[in-house]
Amino acid sequence: MSKITDIKKGLKDLIDPTTNLAFHEYKAIKHVGIDEETNTVMFVIEVKEKTADVMKKLTRDIAKIVKVDMGYSGIKIDFVEGKKENLHAKTLLIASGKGGVGKSTVTANLAYALMRLGKRVAIIDADVYGANMPKILKATDHVLMGNKDGKLYPFQKDNIQMVSTEYLVEKNRALMLRGPMLNKVLKLFFEDTLWVGEIDYFLVDLPPGTGDVMMDMKDFCHDPKMVLVTTPQENAAHIAIKAGYAAKSLGQELIGVVENMSYYEVNNEQHFIFGQGGGKKVADELLVELLAKLPIVPSDNSIYAESDIAGIIYLNLANKILKLTK
Ligand SMILES: Nc1ncnc2c1ncn2[C@@H]1O[C@H](COP(=O)(O)OP(=O)(O)O)[C@@H](O)[C@H]1O
Ligand SMILES: [Mg+2]
Repeated sequence: MSKITDIKKGLKDLIDPTTNLAFHEYKAIKHVGIDEETNTVMFVIEVKEKTADVMKKLTRDIAKIVKVDMGYSGIKIDFVEGKKENLHAKTLLIASGKGGVGKSTVTANLAYALMRLGKRVAIIDADVYGANMPKILKATDHVLMGNKDGKLYPFQKDNIQMVSTEYLVEKNRALMLRGPMLNKVLKLFFEDTLWVGEIDYFLVDLPPGTGDVMMDMKDFCHDPKMVLVTTPQENAAHIAIKAGYAAKSLGQELIGVVENMSYYEVNNEQHFIFGQGGGKKVADELLVELLAKLPIVPSDNSIYAESDIAGIIYLNLANKILKLTK
């Protein structure tokens, strides 16, 4: 192995204290060179925030490995700052066992509720097989534009930004992606989208079940939290539990369950059209909280007003999620 490779390998587990990411996770080492005459190693290292404390700590860590352990005489480090945007953004993955339970409806309404609580929200519609966020946000005529460097401009409405796989295909065509192509699309959304301003919360509308998208999430977001959506029905709950276990086995932290289409209310009386208990069963089995039970609201407008009964429940849900993701 070359000396340079040895040095890179020796430093791969060092941590940028600002993000808690290891060097190998964010490709911190931009350059390594050796001055043979003076036996000095020269580095260009990327950090998120170039503060005196960060530079001091990393210089010490690197000196220990390169000088003490590897025997070089000196080191010289140029620190450069990485991208500044969305350093503190949190990612919420909205998942479900099966399709049609209201995952996208919940994603969109949760986005509005978080926005109403003053958060800056972006939606990534990553349901590659059934993307419908443009329809919910009434943005189907929108054309997603990119700049000459291949960066994407997000759709914006009501202070919420959004990108969707729906925009990447011709109308009425389904997107069929797997493996590396899928990873490229996710990279476009997560890393090459020109989000406007700082984002507090990224909401990712995942495809139902567990698949490539869920597995690829680790490449794009640090410490995402998952919310699982189910209906009260036995079969939906059963599949949601499976999806929850699969997510946990991928190391994804589940923070709670949302039961959608829980009841239909007339004259202050609740009718449990789809049965009862699915959400609680999923939450109990996966040892998390049932965060909300949402009514059946037949309506053409999928975004509930702030004062609607459902709108108020979404505000409560958003408040709980803020606490759980502090
Ligand atoms: N609480 C609800 N009350 C009435 N209809 C709902 C409710 N939640 C979702 N829907 C409707 O059910 C259908 C599926 O919802 P959607 O959010 O697209 O599910 P998913 O993303 O899980 O496939 C949509 O037509 C949507 O408008
Ligand atoms: Mg959907």
